[in-house]
Amino acid sequence: MKLRDFYRIIMFVILVMVFTICVTSCSSEGVSNQAGKTDFSLSASQEAVTLNALDNGLALTPPMGWNSWNAFEADIDEQKIRQIADAMVDSGMRDAGYTYLVLDDGWMASSRDSDGNLVAEPNKFPSGMKAIGDYIHSKGLKFGIYEDRGHWTCQQLPGSFEHEQADMDTFASWGVDYIKMDSCFAENNGRLSSEDYTLYKNCIIKTGRPMVLSISDFGNGAWAWGGEDMAQLWRTSGDIFPWMDSVYYCADTSGGNHSIHPAFNGLWQFAGPGHWNDPDMLQVGNLAKDIENRAHFSLWCILAAPLMAGNDLRSMSDSVKNILTAPEVIRVNQDARGIQGYKVYDSGDQEIYNKPLQDGTAAVLLLNKGSEPVDITITWDKIGLSGSQKVRDLWARKDLGYYKDSFTAYNLTQHGHMLIKVGSTGSPLPAPAPVASDKYMVTKSGTTYLSDLCYIWKNGNAPRSDKNYNNSPITINGITYNKGLGCKGNSKIMYKLNNKADSFKAVVGLDDSYSGNSTGRFRIYNEDLFGNKVLFDSGNMDRGSSAKNIDLDVRGVKCLLLVFEGDNVLGDWANAQAIAVN
Ligand code: GAL
Repeated sequence: MKLRDFYRIIMFVILVMVFTICVTSCSSEGVSNQAGKTDFSLSASQEAVTLNALDNGLALTPPMGWNSWNAFEADIDEQKIRQIADAMVDSGMRDAGYTYLVLDDGWMASSRDSDGNLVAEPNKFPSGMKAIGDYIHSKGLKFGIYEDRGHWTCQQLPGSFEHEQADMDTFASWGVDYIKMDSCFAENNGRLSSEDYTLYKNCIIKTGRPMVLSISDFGNGAWAWGGEDMAQLWRTSGDIFPWMDSVYYCADTSGGNHSIHPAFNGLWQFAGPGHWNDPDMLQVGNLAKDIENRAHFSLWCILAAPLMAGNDLRSMSDSVKNILTAPEVIRVNQDARGIQGYKVYDSGDQEIYNKPLQDGTAAVLLLNKGSEPVDITITWDKIGLSGSQKVRDLWARKDLGYYKDSFTAYNLTQHGHMLIKVGSTGSPLPAPAPVASDKYMVTKSGTTYLSDLCYIWKNGNAPRSDKNYNNSPITINGITYNKGLGCKGNSKIMYKLNNKADSFKAVVGLDDSYSGNSTGRFRIYNEDLFGNKVLFDSGNMDRGSSAKNIDLDVRGVKCLLLVFEGDNVLGDWANAQAIAVN
């Protein structure tokens, strides 16, 4: 046995022991598995390659391509798209792996034809979409197209609502390979997001043509309600813009705890071959400086994010081209193991991400977001290694030598970073343990208090478990409750009932400690806001209002969305509990 393998086994055993001792519940914020305290026990479920239910073997690594939106918004036409297809080939983008050419919103006519079919806008695309698809294919590229599940697209062009099968058939007949499906004007479809996207999945299967399905619900928790059973990628964020605050924000919707309980340490456990978190398309080439373009690209690569270029490829500079086609950086993104990189350190301004690769090495990103120059050190214990390890600089494509116990990137200015590959080839390094299902969904019969679960999605203020928002006992109308969620408006929190619970009970009201005069309103939705399936509405409540008892039938509900509105008002979901008969 090689010394290196011996070290790995010892490390692994130690880490499994540490993990076993340290496993804690998710009932309070950031108690386990948070940045800097990652567990390294191998997880069989995480290692298994899961194909999503579209089951067409597509997107086993994050999709790569180009999309028209970030460069042109709706201002696209036939000539531009052909030129882009040419540029994808001539620039070497296609050969670097960018195969999908996706036409975003703005390609279609403002109304359907007399048979109800979607048609291309005749002035912009006089040859029609089939011809565009043929041209794209003739270049050895794949053809992608945008639609929307609402009545209208975001540009108020015809959406696919009530034309689902017909439109998917149309796309198949045009030779489409990739569908980006959006959610504008979908609130009144009367269908949950999961129902809508299951419908599209089935329509696509019915066409008989393998097509990637990329879905958006503006980052409202597709990983929670089963995105991976429906689509190969789902948006985790709102739209990305060409400045670094926006880039870092979008990255954090996937790699950070922006919209999930900190115990998850980002969304990495929901990604894998055939199903990816999508923090939106690239702005590489649209940012002000090369260092920004590189930082953005490094982040998307380590996060196993889809790489959909969004710059005008016809006029891209050599430096931008070199960033987008950097072979060793792309290889991190396209690694067959498909583990999304996760944070092992986050000080606010400085971050370190780790992505264990198929070949037994680890890709590590050391990034300075802050304005002051800093040194950042990664110690091998944070990535499951020890001793002397080989380090390669993936941007410079240069071996840096062997480093004992740690590696330091010196004097990183703002957005400065290093993307390195650590270790030698061999058996894959352990991935951290994902949060176990019983920590974030209802799995058992009897009562499960929501405050004992990790929320799976949030927007606004996170709740406190078994305390009011100020960490004092939950008290409504003079009665103190031991269990429950203490909230401060505005707060939207999603819990995963997983079709397991039969009823949901809670007592709601403003917390007695709230001394203001604003009102608060409690609402419960089935899943997310899209189906508009309101299961409970307290109406406006103030300090004088009596608590309200909730007792709901939640059979068949995958996720429950608890919404508390009220500007800085303190409100409680006292005794919030899911009850499963079986
Ligand atoms: C947004 C979407 C963008 C772009 C735009 C088109 O909802 O997030 O990526 O597709 O619609 O109108």
